[in-house]
Amino acid sequence: MSMFWSGYITLLTIGTFVALFWLVFATRRGQRPDTTEQTLGHAFDGIEEYDNPLPKWWFLLFVGTLVFGIAYLIFYPGLGSWKGVMPGYQDGWTQTHQWQREMNAANAKFGPIFARFSAMSVEQVAQDPEALKMGGRLFANHCAICHGSDAKGSQGFPNLTDGEWRWGGEAETIKASIQHGRIAAMPAWLEVIGEERVKNVAAYVRHDLAGLTPPADLQGDREAGAQVYASTCVACHGANGEGMAMLGAPSLTQPAAWIYGSSLTQLQQTIRHGRNGQMPAQEEYLGADKVHILAAYVYSLSHKEPQLAQQ
Ligand code: HEC
Ligand code: HEC
Repeated sequence: MSMFWSGYITLLTIGTFVALFWLVFATRRGQRPDTTEQTLGHAFDGIEEYDNPLPKWWFLLFVGTLVFGIAYLIFYPGLGSWKGVMPGYQDGWTQTHQWQREMNAANAKFGPIFARFSAMSVEQVAQDPEALKMGGRLFANHCAICHGSDAKGSQGFPNLTDGEWRWGGEAETIKASIQHGRIAAMPAWLEVIGEERVKNVAAYVRHDLAGLTPPADLQGDREAGAQVYASTCVACHGANGEGMAMLGAPSLTQPAAWIYGSSLTQLQQTIRHGRNGQMPAQEEYLGADKVHILAAYVYSLSHKEPQLAQQ
């Protein structure tokens, strides 16, 4: 704020306060001290007004609000560039400063806890009940919106509890998925191989690789589909449909873990138009400490048995 506007606002505000004080006291001075039956002499629709003084509590209420206003403007910013003298705020109170103060307090409180977990491996943290409790809360706040509150995923979002991984299930790989995010690229094949081969390969994937029972009215030639698979899909999904974690290409033998559906129609759509699943990177947003705890939490979801065995 420029000097001029700061001065302008300050003068205007202080001027208003002075004027209000004057008004409250000046009008009181002319008033009679006691109550009376005498009216002011005018009537509105038959209603008359007594010539009584302002009740004392009312007068004090006025004075009280004025004093409050002055105290407020001393402690909080309001008078031009005046920052206020709120205790605990060297640079004056603002919402941002208050938020920073609370964050600093939280960091001071949780910093040592985070530091302890950061020094441990993801697998070790996954054994710590306190860390898992924190991880569960972080997951509910930041991940449940996509992966579900039970982490079991839904259409388009992978299940994180089933031990099937698109990008790999090692503790450090899970952590990398959360830290840096993942962008999957399944190409669209319709333009490349044509509608008939899409149907053939969909039938092959669904019934030969994934082992699902073919419907009576199956569209597509599974043997022709096997050849399309061998020439078009192996590079990413592997010779036996085992998938390739480096590319995020899922196994095609585990239909329960597919995220785009396992019906023939859904498979054909996936193959025709491709898919681009995106896991948003979290490290920049949540910080390394929270990502570490989240990785441990996610890791624990599909590693419950060894934990039980150790107890
Ligand atoms: C360039 C590598 C690449 C090639 C080639 C490729 N895919 Fe994929 N495929 C992927 C990736 C990566 C995903 C994961 C997409 C996602 O998560 O959004 C995927 C996903 C899929 C899915 C969905 C699985 C699910 O979770 O619902 C199916 C089905 C599939 N591919 C079948 C095929 C078939 C059939 C072919 C051959 C015609 C093929 N893919 C060729 C990389 C590839
Ligand atoms: C905006 C939606 C969204 C949010 C929020 C989100 N994810 Fe994801 N996540 C995805 C999608 C989509 C994928 C699958 C990407 C793909 O197609 O390969 C994924 C994949 C993953 C994977 C890899 C799974 C595998 O099979 O390899 C992990 C681990 C993961 N997410 C953990 C988390 C955690 C922990 C959080 C919370 C910090 C989170 N995600 C928040 C959408 C989201």
